[in-house]
Order: sequence, then C-alpha cells, then structure tokens
Amino acid sequence: MKQREQLYEGKAKKVYATDDPELLIVSYKDDATAFNGAKRGTIEGKGVINNRMSNILMRYLQTKGVATHFVEELNDRDTIVKKVAIVPLEVIVRNISAGSFAKRYGVEEGIVFDAPTVEFSYKNDDLGDPLINDDHAIALKLATAGEIKQIKEYALTVNRELQKLWSECGVTLVDFKLEFGRLADGTIVLADEISPDTCRLWDSATKEKLDKDRFRRDLGGVEDAYRTIMGRLEQYMEQQK
Ligand code: TMP
Repeated sequence: MKQREQLYEGKAKKVYATDDPELLIVSYKDDATAFNGAKRGTIEGKGVINNRMSNILMRYLQTKGVATHFVEELNDRDTIVKKVAIVPLEVIVRNISAGSFAKRYGVEEGIVFDAPTVEFSYKNDDLGDPLINDDHAIALKLATAGEIKQIKEYALTVNRELQKLWSECGVTLVDFKLEFGRLADGTIVLADEISPDTCRLWDSATKEKLDKDRFRRDLGGVEDAYRTIMGRLEQYMEQQK
C-alpha cells in the first residue's frame, strides 16, 4: 500500500490518499485540543495509544456485527481505513451524567441512567457543533431517516458491547462520541476513532478519570491516564487469547 498526498489535517489526525482510491491512511498525532480548538496542547504518546486502542475496539466491534472502516494497522501511528463520506453528526451515547449533559440540565455528574441516551451534534466548527434532533438532521439532509435508524442501532450496540468489555477491565463507560460514514455504495460504517479522546472512562472502583477530561479540566496525570487505560485493555485482550 503506497502512501500518497496528504488530503486533510484535523485536530488529532492526518489523512493520506493511497494508490487504492477506496482506501486511506490515517495517522494519529499527539496534538490535543478542547473546546473547539480554544485549548491546545500535546499529550506525549497519545497518537500511538489512540491508534492501537481504536483498532482493537473496531476489530472487536466487527465481531459483534458493527460494520467499521477499519482495514489494517500499518504501524504505531498509521492505519489503513476504508474511504467514507463522513455523516456530519457527532453521535453521543451516555450511560451516566457528565460533561455537557450535566452542564446543560444543571445536574451533578455521576447520575446513573436507567437506559442509555443517544444524542446528535451537528459537526460544524463554525457553529460550535450544536445539539440537533433527528428531524432537523433529516431536514438539513445530513442523513436520511433510514440512515439515522441504522446509526442509532449501531450506536446502542457499540454501547452494549463496550460497556461489557470495559467492565471486564474494571472501567466504567460513562459516555462516548462516534462518527459514521458512507462507503461508495452508501453502506453506513462506523468511522473516526474510539479512544480516551472520545470516551469518558472512569475507574470503576475509585471513579478516577482515565480519559481526555484530565486534559480538558487540567487535572494532571494525562499521559499516565492514557497509559493506564491502554494497559488495562491490553491486559484483558491478552487474557482472552
Ligand atoms: P460532552 O459531555 O462534552 O458533550 O461529551 C460527550 C462525549 O463526547 C465525551 O465522551 C467526550 C466526547 N467528545 C468528543 O469526542 N469530541 C468532542 O468534540 C466533544 C465535545 C466531546
């Protein structure tokens, strides 16, 4: 697989063309941003961890019936993925109140929901990724009703399977953000990444935050938290062999 020109540089990843028009290479950086880019920094080793973790989780989810963009891990930071047209929705699943949910509704963090919630944000940096409902997303032609149904089903399957997996690692899956894309034939697949950048992961016993909130909130121990959560997952995957 030949890497060709850089197509895009995002906040945390670069994307390159390949000699196959249906495949891309994503390259994970150590750069971190928060609050729509207002806060910037570096988390040493993050790119390596997010690449590895996302690939482990995508491979796992494929065995559970979730179609993903994952093709092949090339090295520590680079992965071949299927080329998709990203559906411009951030798909957020929550099991426990935290972050913008707690802020918006004026409740404390840590309230355990009876059932998971799914919400969408319109992926649009200029607008600050506003919350959007299904009907608005359809009206704006961001996705069809059928695609929204499929995306929600996948999102809840991802939640169920990852909740189980992380609980085996002594970790509580509080909430997370997914992105989906369309293949050339219109098939919806899970895309982007699943990592401590895009999930809230709390130690089940101590409630310690093992995710990007340590960076967002200046809690310190950011690199340690990324290494700890990666270590937990790798240890569990090793036991399953
Ligand atoms: P929120 O509570 O700030 O809305 O975040 C919900 C989840 O989505 C949390 O796990 C962090 C993740 N997330 C992203 O992956 N990217 C983002 O830009 C934001 C705001 C949140």
